[in-house]
Amino acid sequence: LFSGNQTRVYSYQPKLLKGEKSSLEKLPGSYLGPVIRVQKGQKIRVRFNNQLSRESVIHWHGLHIPPEMDGHPMYAIENGEQYIYEFEVNNQPGTYWFHPHPDKITGPQVYQGLAGLFIVEDNNSDLPSGEYDVPLILQDRIFDDNNQLVYLQNNRMGQMQGFLGNRILMNGNPDTTFNVSKSTYRFRVLNGSNSRIYKMAWDDGEEVTVIGTDGGLLEKPVKKPYLMLAPGQRAEIWKDFAGQNTGTEIQLQSLAFNDGTSMGMGGGMMGRGMMGGMTQPGGVENGIAFDVAAFKVTENTGKKMELPSTLSTITPINPADAVNSANPRQFYFYNQRMQWVINGETFGMTEVAEWEKVKLNTTEIWEFINGDDGRGMGMMQDMMRMPHPVHLHGLQFQIIDRDVSGMERTVWETVKDGFMDEGWQDTFLLLPGMKVKIIMRFKDFTGLYVYHCHNLEHEDMGMMRNYEVI
Ligand code: C2O
Ligand code: CU
Repeated sequence: LFSGNQTRVYSYQPKLLKGEKSSLEKLPGSYLGPVIRVQKGQKIRVRFNNQLSRESVIHWHGLHIPPEMDGHPMYAIENGEQYIYEFEVNNQPGTYWFHPHPDKITGPQVYQGLAGLFIVEDNNSDLPSGEYDVPLILQDRIFDDNNQLVYLQNNRMGQMQGFLGNRILMNGNPDTTFNVSKSTYRFRVLNGSNSRIYKMAWDDGEEVTVIGTDGGLLEKPVKKPYLMLAPGQRAEIWKDFAGQNTGTEIQLQSLAFNDGTSMGMGGGMMGRGMMGGMTQPGGVENGIAFDVAAFKVTENTGKKMELPSTLSTITPINPADAVNSANPRQFYFYNQRMQWVINGETFGMTEVAEWEKVKLNTTEIWEFINGDDGRGMGMMQDMMRMPHPVHLHGLQFQIIDRDVSGMERTVWETVKDGFMDEGWQDTFLLLPGMKVKIIMRFKDFTGLYVYHCHNLEHEDMGMMRNYEVI
């Protein structure tokens, strides 16, 4: 599993397609969309012509833009129609991405290749740039005997779990070996998988040096033995190959962990092994170890750089400024009668409850809980627990608390050193029993945005809701 018979050697040479200040790069030999590079403050216009047989819409994941530009499913267009996205990029420099977001069919469309990076450049000369600034997009897939992609087909149980493949693709290619110079690199990692979680580590014993999260650079670098990366999340990683010998090969791996998935039967819980039978045929469950890609050091010498001690300035949002600091809104993510729900509800196109309305120009704390916490009634409720990567559209937030007291110790022990809660985020991993508090400010735009589980099959099943800024 997770290894093929042929090795593909991949050198990253960005090919600029057009533009000066902004550019489109093609990822070599990849089905993925372009890497769009823009400057903060730029106005961009994207013409989207839908040539798919089904409706679609583009979501600019992580960007702070008006609702009509954000890719809400209600703005999906049909085959033959056109939608023009036009917005000013006012996010911090960082690694964002774009992908389709039509109601109930986001999973298959992303799976079939619709995803790309949207990089807001920082022009920071203390960081590797050009060919040393390399995107790493991680996705898993299943291929049939004719090398065609296989997706979940009328497989309700598979959908319950989310798509899990058996081949790891890096930038759209299997079995990737990168040729790297004796140089310092900046890797922009995106977990673009439908539901696979990675526990990323280097096999050379070096820690993972994280310099950025979803919303841009950290204040200072953080070293971790491994990094948990859930679907939708990005991480920027600093890696130095400058001191390595020619021919050295270093693996980027995903280590084994327990994702806490369980099925309860009549009140009792059974372990995650029980889920094996639910996986798509051929698929491999979350938490199995595998190699992600190899980095082979060539004889070329690049540029050795010193890891900066300061990367950016991040002002923490003060919890005392939140209008609901004494009484945060609570969002329970759980399973109810074989259906993933948020506070007992599923997605309705323009449906928004009182508890989902917020005021413009206010700061709020929201608490997310994985589990029904006794709210469910009847033996079929909350009988399944799974990780949920939680994503909010339209803004970046800060994580102020991650409470793991309700988690199973045996699960927590396998992941505890991998959470990057510093910096700006738009997606975070919520494991069974976990409670996470985030803080954010609603500003600039009113209207409907969605928030949802970024396990794309869960999202397609309706584990998504609107919030409205009024
Ligand atoms: Cu990347 Cu609403 O999603
Ligand atoms: Cu989920």
